[in-house]
Amino acid sequence: DKKNLLVLAGDGIGAEVMAEVWRLIDWLDRRRGISFAVSEGLVGGVSIDAHGVPITDATMAQALAADAVLLGAVGGPKWETLPFEVRPERGLLRLRKDLELFANLRPAVVFDALVDASPLKAEIIRGLDIMIVRELTGGVYFGQPRGIETLADGSRRGVNTQVYTTEEIRRIARVAFDLARKRQNRVCSAEKANVMESGVLWREEVQWVHDNEYPDIDLSHMYADNCAMQLVRNPGQFDVIVTDNLFGDILSDEAAMLTGSLGMLPSASLGAADVSGRRRALYEPVHGSAPDIAGKGIANPLAVLLSFGMCLRYSFDLKAEADLLDRAVNGVLDGGLRTADIMQQGKARISTGVMGEAIIRE
Ligand code: NAI
Ligand code: MG
Repeated sequence: DKKNLLVLAGDGIGAEVMAEVWRLIDWLDRRRGISFAVSEGLVGGVSIDAHGVPITDATMAQALAADAVLLGAVGGPKWETLPFEVRPERGLLRLRKDLELFANLRPAVVFDALVDASPLKAEIIRGLDIMIVRELTGGVYFGQPRGIETLADGSRRGVNTQVYTTEEIRRIARVAFDLARKRQNRVCSAEKANVMESGVLWREEVQWVHDNEYPDIDLSHMYADNCAMQLVRNPGQFDVIVTDNLFGDILSDEAAMLTGSLGMLPSASLGAADVSGRRRALYEPVHGSAPDIAGKGIANPLAVLLSFGMCLRYSFDLKAEADLLDRAVNGVLDGGLRTADIMQQGKARISTGVMGEAIIRE
């Protein structure tokens, strides 16, 4: 039975960069005999234009039936004045919610040829390969009670609640430990157990999962503020970092910027595994629809290609092909080809399509 992939290119540069994924899908079929059952759908502004909603129930049903969803980007000035309920990003939010994607995976990889793009010194950053695993559906962004209340004296109080349950912590810890087994066997768990009750529980439960299910993994605990410092001071010490929704939001953006290039950053969001072991999954570049360069054919397709690479690795178990893609990206960059966003002195500036062709050739 074929691997079932739903492609949602979305808006702006989404469709432009997705064209290079189609090229790779075609190559895998012709040259490696790996074929997918690929379907396509609309999300974001293009869906609003066609159907009046940012994602239709029919497309949602396709997403729920797929083994994996690959998304380009959504949004743009054309739809910015619409009420929030029908704006493009609601399509993405509905996908994340209905697929119950509780684990957000954000790799921060520094490619040798782009070591100078990092704001950190080359000797600190060279060879960096970190995976941040962020809990995505719990914690202070969703905890109850929440709200802004007016007190008796007329002043106001804003309230959010950080809540985590045993099961929420254990399932995100398992995702991190499973990933570590495919990497360097090291997990660092970040919380604030020194000042937060939810942090105490987080530390205890992550340790419990380790001791009972993953004793082979090297587990360490770190306060999240120290983790933020260590990411800049000595990022090479990390393999997998697992953390909650709030700290993960911040630490994953920080780690991303260590690489210095938005057009190179992939991501994955994973949901619960069903009885057959299949995990719901959504893969997407970290960047948005880049309206400032849309339609010019100059967007960097590597973020979405690397997102597809994560899909090959984590949803389809095609490790050899994912490794091959990583090597191709390295090879093309070593060869001196650059899209405008990662341009460096003395290198050749190329278009989206030429970058895609170069990856195939490599
Ligand atoms: P953005 O990521 O679209 O662009 C930020 C800057 O990076 C721009 O100068 C853009 O040209 C550049 N850039 C981004 N991706 C690039 C690529 N692949 N190659 C070369 N340059 C690239 O973020 P921005 O400008 O804040 O948002 C633009 C639109 O995208 C908005 O409508 C926003 O809501 C939406 N957005 C959607 C996201 C998603 O679909 N997941 C995530 C972030 C923003
Ligand atoms: Mg953020």
